[in-house]
Amino acid sequence: MKRLSVLISGRGSNLDALLSAIQRHGWPISVVAVISNRPNAPGLEIARAKGIATEVLDHRQFADRKAFDAALAQRLETQRPDLVVLAGFMRLLTAEFCARFRNRLVNIHPSLLPAFKGLETHQQALDAGVRVHGCTVHLVTAELDHGPILAQAVVPVHPDDTVEALAARVLKMEHEIYPMAIAAWLSGQLMIQEDRIINRGEGAFPTGFMPCRLHPDLA
Ligand code: GRF
Repeated sequence: MKRLSVLISGRGSNLDALLSAIQRHGWPISVVAVISNRPNAPGLEIARAKGIATEVLDHRQFADRKAFDAALAQRLETQRPDLVVLAGFMRLLTAEFCARFRNRLVNIHPSLLPAFKGLETHQQALDAGVRVHGCTVHLVTAELDHGPILAQAVVPVHPDDTVEALAARVLKMEHEIYPMAIAAWLSGQLMIQEDRIINRGEGAFPTGFMPCRLHPDLA
């Protein structure tokens, strides 16, 4: 059984999608704990309702980023995760933390990286007038929204799109690609070579993984 620790800050819809996918596919993956840096994150309730252990590590209780990340690393080490999943965890992580969990730390970013790093990615996409947008699952490095790419999904941008409509279209794809990319990484189907992800085609268990997904309107 592969062990996951999931870090959240808010809503937790990616956490929910991950838990559902694990159950639906019967993957040999167990979420051992969910840690939130915000005591009121709604995602904590999602975890509790599914019987997952939760912890709150409030960043405001720590003197600085370094102290918070050190405490977080300590908590995670006790959970012995094979992979640490960032699921809407709205904190920058120190280089030390990223190095300690190198190739064991994964994130989903709501844009087609390397375009639109940082916050308000859907607004950035609308401002740029792009015709396609999407999301990216990547291993985390010390550089913001950067690292070897496991999977991406592409959605159309419509002329009359609002930030909300575009965000919802992307989020639906996030929920599809994140669980499968996580499962594929844990199954050993994916490996890293010279900072790129190689898809070996099969791993220890089937995942249905595809590195590139298209929104149904584009297919
Ligand atoms: C998602 O859009 C994700 O891409 C970004 O933060 C958001 C988290 O949403 N990193 P949720 O908490 O998983 O619902």
